[in-house]
Amino acid sequence: MKLLAIETSCDETSAAVLKADQPGRPTLASCVILSQDIHRVFGGVVPELASRAHLGTIVPVVDEALAEARVELEDLDAIAVTAGPGLVGALLVGVMYGKTLARRLARPLIGVHHLEGHLFAPTLEQQDFAPPFVALLVSGGHTMLLDVPAWGQYRLLGATRDDAAGEAFDKVGTLLGLGYPGGPAIERLAREGRPGRFRFPRPMLNTIGEDGPDQYSFSFSGLKTAVLRAVRTSTDLERDRADLARGFQDAVLEVLVEKAATAIEATGYPTLAIGGGVACNDALSAAASERLGRSARVVVASKRLNTDNAAMIGAAGLFRLRQGEQSGADLEPRADLPLPGLLPASASIGISR
Ligand code: KG4
Ligand code: ZN
Repeated sequence: MKLLAIETSCDETSAAVLKADQPGRPTLASCVILSQDIHRVFGGVVPELASRAHLGTIVPVVDEALAEARVELEDLDAIAVTAGPGLVGALLVGVMYGKTLARRLARPLIGVHHLEGHLFAPTLEQQDFAPPFVALLVSGGHTMLLDVPAWGQYRLLGATRDDAAGEAFDKVGTLLGLGYPGGPAIERLAREGRPGRFRFPRPMLNTIGEDGPDQYSFSFSGLKTAVLRAVRTSTDLERDRADLARGFQDAVLEVLVEKAATAIEATGYPTLAIGGGVACNDALSAAASERLGRSARVVVASKRLNTDNAAMIGAAGLFRLRQGEQSGADLEPRADLPLPGLLPASASIGISR
């Protein structure tokens, strides 16, 4: 079984080839990721430019993924493509390409949810990674805590009420004059910063233990405003920049880790999986491992598979195909595609053991 996967939901054009024998785990034969640099000039992703860039790069990116995997188009058995959520114009490029190719080759097509892709990313590298686990999904567009008792079953424990964690990193990066994306630059700078010189609020940390709907909710926009105030009142931003980055990162990480650890305690699960672009932050995985100690292990994919990529879309797509699912020629991209198998936050939490 040879599967081609395509991801164009935001500002990465990516294609990957997965090879799989029933019923085993797939191996990654190739994964090409082309990041669109154009958005750096504007300090954030410009949707119209993203769509145009995908149009120009999708064909060479797929060609390169096939060449690296030494697979001909005609050898493919199936095609997986991100159908949402994301920028609708950007998604459309991948979906149209995938649909056209599937039709031409007369092969099955599967539309994949981007976040289900992030959940599957570690399966490509860690043979023993499997549910049940608690997932902390932290990207530029989403911040979610999920209870995953089995693949395809996702109980939403909590999400952000405003900015996503990655979005907060990006906005604070801009405030500190670090350019886009802010996450990697803040992490680097925070290493040099002194802890505690700037102590920012830990938003919604006090809801832990409340047993209400907000126990696992997040909010980052007030934190961003607190950093803005500190930047404005700083008399020497050159001197304070690293300390501000450290203060901000420590605040975000503490909230993420405490809520994830609470979910691990509530479910009794042995694994916390952290996924999405912010999972590239080494301080986050280190803080989570330290906080959880022996009670649970922390699983994080490599950086290449944490930021947006087609390999994870292929892994999730293969799971869906093996479940007997398939998308029709009427597959449409959806900016707000709901996660399949998602149960509401109010559903009872986990299995206490
Ligand atoms: O998952 P992703 O590649 O795209 C979305 O689906 O949004 O995540 C991108 C986000 C950006 O906000 C970026 O600043 C953040 O991930 N990010 C990081 C780090 N590397 C990327 N945030 C914190 N620390 C990092 N090292
Ligand atoms: Zn993503």
